[in-house]
Formats: sequence, C-alpha cells, structure tokens
Amino acid sequence: MLILAIETSCDETSVAVLENEKVLSNIISSQYFHSDYGGVVPELASREHLKYLVKITRKALEKSKKKIGQIDLVAATTEPGLIGALLIGTNFAKAIAASLEIPFVPVNHIQSHLYSSFLGGKKPEFPFISLIISGGHTMLVLVKDFFKHTILGTTVDDAAGESFDKVAKMLGLGYPGGPEIERYAVKGNPLFHKFPIPVIKNRPFHFSFSGLKTSVLYLLRDLNFEKNKNEKLIADVAASFQKTVVDYLLKTTRKSAEHHKINQICISGGVSANNCLQKKFLELEKNGYKIRIPGKIYTTDNAAMIGYTAYHKYKLSKDKKYFKHRSFAHPASPKLNTRTF
Ligand code: KG4
Ligand code: ZN
Repeated sequence: MLILAIETSCDETSVAVLENEKVLSNIISSQYFHSDYGGVVPELASREHLKYLVKITRKALEKSKKKIGQIDLVAATTEPGLIGALLIGTNFAKAIAASLEIPFVPVNHIQSHLYSSFLGGKKPEFPFISLIISGGHTMLVLVKDFFKHTILGTTVDDAAGESFDKVAKMLGLGYPGGPEIERYAVKGNPLFHKFPIPVIKNRPFHFSFSGLKTSVLYLLRDLNFEKNKNEKLIADVAASFQKTVVDYLLKTTRKSAEHHKINQICISGGVSANNCLQKKFLELEKNGYKIRIPGKIYTTDNAAMIGYTAYHKYKLSKDKKYFKHRSFAHPASPKLNTRTF
C-alpha cells in the first residue's frame, strides 16, 4: 500500500511517501522566519504552508520515485495544532483523496509522535511506556499495542518544549528555544543553580513546568541578568535549567515504568532530540531498561510519522468503509479500541 502523508499542524510543512511501514521519502520544510517574532505566528504559518505544500508534495513524490496516481491512501494531521495550518493540510489531502477516489485517514499529531518511536532507530516491542515531549504536549502513555493505550499523565500547565522556548526567550536566545538552550548548556555548569523539581500532589505521573519557568525568572531578577549578562552566565543558567528538566522527566518516567512493571521506555517529540536527555535516558539501560529513541529526523515534526500512524490505523480499522465514505466528512476518530488524545 502506497501512502501519501501530510503534516502542517504548526511551523513545519512536511510530506512523506510510505510503502506500508517503509518510508520512501520524507521532505520537511521548517519556517525559520518565526524566530524574528519570538514564536510561531499562526497566520503567517498558514500562508507559508499554502505557498509550499504543492511544491513539497511534488518533491516527496519525485524522491520516492512514485506518481500521484499510484497512491492508495492519503493521510493528514487533523488535530491538534493551529487551526488555519491544519485546515491547509487536511483540505489539500482530502482533495487528493477525492480526486483519486482513495481513502483519507485523519491522524492525531500526538499519537503520531508516539508511533514515531518505530522510525529510524531500534524498534520497540509492546508493551512500553511512551514519554511524548513536544512543544505543545507532555505525556506519559502506557502502550499495549497499536491504538491500545492508557494515558498515565500529562502536563497540568506548560509543555516541556514550551518551557525550553520560554526560558530561551528570557535568556535572549532565538526560537525554537530547545536547540538554543542545548547549544549554550554544553558550555555551562549544570550545578550553577539548583532549581526545585515540581511535585504534583496525588498525581505522580503528571507534569508541571510553569513553576520552573517562574524560578528561572526569579533567578534572572536576583542576578540582575539584564545588566550582568554574558555568554558564561547564559550558558550556566541554560545548563542548570536543562539538567532540571531532564532529571524531572527521567525521574517521573522511571517511576511510572517501575509502577507498571514495564522495562521498555520510548521517548519521542521535539524535546527528545536533546542530546543530554538522550544520554541520561540511555544510562537507564545499565539498570535493565530498554530505551528506544526515533532517528533524529523523526523527533521533530515530520510527515513520515503521520503516514506510519495512518498505515496502522487503516490496517486495524474494523470498518475500512469508514475512511472510504467519509473522505469529505468531519475527521472524527473511527471507533478503534483507543482513548483519544
Ligand atoms: O515535536 P515538535 O517538533 O513540535 C510539536 O509538536 O510541538 O517539538 C518542538 C519543540 C519545541 O518546543 C522545541 O524547542 C523543542 O521541541 N526542541 C528541543 C530540541 N529540539 C527541539 N528541546 C530541547 N532540546 C532540543 N535539542
Ligand atoms: Zn509535533
């Protein structure tokens, strides 16, 4: 089965072609200009998707050496994300599905980050604990099989990636903040400042990042940062902040794995690209855990993970007619044995 997959939920325009589970092409165009505004401007993101989507689709088909007429199934991210940006990709995908008279499969972006764990690295085996850490979401999920999962915890305020972005902004660094913080953190002292690790009463697998962000704000105020800032100080604060987030994610994930007696942990989403975080999680292998991390290109937003998720969703769907007959309808989730994200 040949799949054309489209991802336009935020500031990456991406199109992939897959043959069943195999990625034949995965073209990603990142909208770096948002950095001038300190964050993603939704209106501009939509217009940029409109401008490049056809071009990127042509490129993805060309790279896969397939023609549009050979495609059997079209998939797109339909939720969650910036509504204007989602509509561009969804309607484009549905138009292709309608004209070729093939099924359209709606894909949940967070679910696709979860299944990106099967792309580009050592494949996980069910059951596993999945830590999804992106710009908009932080989630711990117990995954028993494809589309059989239980959400163990989410963030009660900011997402992990969002906290990197906000702290980077406070430090005068660019957007996205994660890679910028990481770039400075490697030069800094992680023990420069000890930030408190958040605790949420009676919710051991939930996360909170907004208090940590406020702690950074207070530290910068106490240091008279605006007056005293220099490369060394930025690096030290970045390293201390990064260490706190990594320790916090690791501690909570390990606790959930121990509680559920699962020895396999998958990390995915943009923050999982962080080298310090990867290193710390991989150290758990010494304690008998199996750690699975997607290939770097599949950590941040990409259409290959959309296609991969769509393939399994379509394969598992009890009523494949659902997709056939609802190509034009609202992309509600089909009745799979799953809790929706
Ligand atoms: O998964 P993703 O590409 O998009 C969303 O679905 O949100 O994640 C983007 C997030 C941003 O917040 C970005 O700062 C963060 O991932 N990120 C990182 C790194 N690379 C991207 N955070 C920490 N370290 C990195 N190397
Ligand atoms: Zn994402």
